[in-house]
Amino acid sequence: MLLYIHIPFCDSKCFYCAFNSYVDLFHLKKEYMTSLKIQLKYELKKIPNQKLKSIFFGGGTPSCIDAIYYEDIFIELKEFISKDTEITTEANPNSASKQWLNDMKNLGVNRVSFGVQSFDDKKLKFLGRNHNHTQAIDAINNAKEVGFEHINCDIIYDTAIDTKELIQNDLNIIKTLPIDHISAYSLTIEEGTKFFDRANVQIENEEMTRYIFNSLSTDGFSQYEISNFSKNEKARSQHNFGYWEKEDYLGVGAGAVGCFEDTRYYPKKDVQEYIANPIEYEKEEKLSKEDTKFEKLFLGLRSAVGVSLDILSKSEIQKVELLEKEKKVYIKNNRFYNYDFLITDEIVLFIED
Ligand SMILES: C[S@@+](CC[C@H](N)C(=O)[O-])C[C@H]1O[C@@H](n2cnc3c(N)ncnc32)[C@H](O)[C@@H]1O
Ligand code: SF4
Repeated sequence: MLLYIHIPFCDSKCFYCAFNSYVDLFHLKKEYMTSLKIQLKYELKKIPNQKLKSIFFGGGTPSCIDAIYYEDIFIELKEFISKDTEITTEANPNSASKQWLNDMKNLGVNRVSFGVQSFDDKKLKFLGRNHNHTQAIDAINNAKEVGFEHINCDIIYDTAIDTKELIQNDLNIIKTLPIDHISAYSLTIEEGTKFFDRANVQIENEEMTRYIFNSLSTDGFSQYEISNFSKNEKARSQHNFGYWEKEDYLGVGAGAVGCFEDTRYYPKKDVQEYIANPIEYEKEEKLSKEDTKFEKLFLGLRSAVGVSLDILSKSEIQKVELLEKEKKVYIKNNRFYNYDFLITDEIVLFIED
C-alpha cells in the first residue's frame, strides 16, 4: 500500500504547471494541515495493521510548510511505518532550508526530491521558476550534508530554449552532484497554465531526448521508466514503482487521487471546500477490467515493471511473440518488457485487440 499526501501551496506559480497549487492561500496553511490529519486518520482505517510501502509528500510545495506542521501527521503515521517504508518529500530549492531538511529527516523522511528543472538561470526564468542554479546546487548539497542518502532532482527538457550546449551543461553539473536519482520530464503544455496561451515554448526533439537518455546512462543513471533514472536498484523510487505495478494507494489532501480496491477516488480539489469537509470525496469511479488492463499495459511498458502475459488474449500474445522476433520486446518469466520506452504507444496500439 502506498500513500500520497498533497500540499497545495506554492511560493510562485511556474509557467508550465497545472498541479493543484495556489500562491494566495497561505493563510489557510494551519487549517489545511488540521484537515489533512482528519482525512489521513480516515484513510488509514482502511488498512488496519498494515505497513505502508511508501509515503510521498508532493505538491505544490511541501517545503513551504514548516516542519513543525508535519509532526502531527507523523504521529498518525507511526504505526504504519516500518524500517523499509520509503518516505519522500518533494522540495523546492528556494524554500528547503538546511534546517527544514534536517527537521524533516528527523521526523522520518528518508528521500528528498528537488524540483530543479535546469541549472541554467535563463531557462529557469523562462520556466517561471523562482530559484537560481546556485540555490539548487546548495539545496542538494545541504540535503546530503544533513544525511539524506536518497536524493532526486527533477529536470525538464523539450523547451524552446534548449540547445545542445545548455543540456550538456546541465548534464555536466548533474554528474557532480550527490544525487542518486533523476526524473527527466519532457515539457507538456497544460491547459490553464501561462504556457498554454503562448506559442513556441515547447519543441519535441527525439534526437535530443535520446541524447539525454544516453548521457544519463553513461553517467551511471540507468533508466527504469520513460522519465526516471537511478544510480542503482536501491535508489529506484518505490513509490513510483508501486504506481506502475498498479498497487493500491491512499490519496490524502486537496486534489490528491487515491485508488483502493478498483475504485479511484478524488478528495475535494478546492482548498476551502477540502478544509470544510476533508472526508467527503469530490467523486469516485469504479475501474472497469478494460481500464485496468489498459493501464497495466501502458504503465508496465513505460517502465521496467513489464506486463504479465496472463492479462492478454491469445491473439494479443501472438502479437507480443511477433514483436519479440523483431527484437522490440523480450519475454521473461511469463512477463514481457519493452526495450525502448519511447515507443510504448506504438506497441500498445499494435498489441491491443
Ligand atoms: C508536482 S511538481 C512539484 C515539485 C516542486 N513543487 C517543484 O516544482 O520544485 C513535480 C515535478 O513535475 C514536473 N512537471 C510539472 N509540470 C510539468 C509539465 N507541464 N511538463 C513537464 N514536467 C512537469 C516538474 O519537473 C516538477 O518538478
Ligand atoms: S512546478 Fe512545483 S513550484 Fe512550480 S507551480 Fe508546480 S508545484 Fe508549484
